[in-house]
Amino acid sequence: MNSSLGPDKPDQYGVVGHPVAHSWSPFIHGMFAKATAQNLVYRLFDIAPDDFRREALRLFTSGVRGLNVTLPHKQAAAELVNQLTPRAERAQAVNTIAFFEDTALLGDNTDGLGLTADLERNLGMNLADKRVLILGAGGAVRGVLGPLLERDLRALVIANRTPDRARKLATEFADLGSISGCGFGDLEGPSFDLIVNGTSASLQGEMPDLPPGLVGKGTICYDMAYGRGHTPFTLWGESLHAAHTTKGWGMLVEQAAESFLLWRGIRPDTQSVLQALALHA
Ligand code: ATR
Repeated sequence: MNSSLGPDKPDQYGVVGHPVAHSWSPFIHGMFAKATAQNLVYRLFDIAPDDFRREALRLFTSGVRGLNVTLPHKQAAAELVNQLTPRAERAQAVNTIAFFEDTALLGDNTDGLGLTADLERNLGMNLADKRVLILGAGGAVRGVLGPLLERDLRALVIANRTPDRARKLATEFADLGSISGCGFGDLEGPSFDLIVNGTSASLQGEMPDLPPGLVGKGTICYDMAYGRGHTPFTLWGESLHAAHTTKGWGMLVEQAAESFLLWRGIRPDTQSVLQALALHA
């Protein structure tokens, strides 16, 4: 697999999304490649939903060896690949595709590990016995439910603009722990230990309309979206005096390191990249 010793042509990787221009993945994978001396290039591919299957297959037949998959293609990617890792099978959503000669397209999901690694290793949170609220029920949320439920949470509540999607998702994961789904208006206290925003509302500069009582003195508000400055969600948390508000930079870097491991067989160090991003964010 490792062709870093080969001649000059770098192996090709990238991220597909729509929109994708805001992505920091090329920067992150560029740093990983340099640190681990891997000869690769990593590009952005903006592909509209209707073209996803055709264009993704075209990229692989033209020599691309791995893709990250972001909004809104994660569920379509699970249908595209020939084989799913157990965690991607559970999520029915894929954020990483690897093209191996022997197994063709393998779909994995490193989002959940990215979130739990950031919460536990980088933010020092112990998730056991915590009450967790997740906003959103799309492809991004599917990937994190399994790894969160493995932590023996006290309760996991999924709330979504379309309540039925949240209820269906909760039913799908009910064998893994205490999980329920509802609409935003159905939410009620006591306050949660952790609130994760997995909706794409932040990208549109919006914040779902949530009832009072969800944020207490000890609540951590985590926006899976990332960008410069505050998001509408982190501002909401700050206005309610959450203990801590943060964005998904750490999740982004940790999930990227897992993708890199699948593609190249090496897990790069994430701390130096997190430090470099802190200068940019
Ligand atoms: P992703 O891969 O990022 O999860 P997705 O599958 O398109 O993308 O899901 C987007 C999520 O953001 C959904 O939960 C969506 O709610 P609906 O299921 O009701 O569509 C949520 N979402 C998008 N825009 C939103 C907004 N303005 N307010 C609240 N929720 C929003």
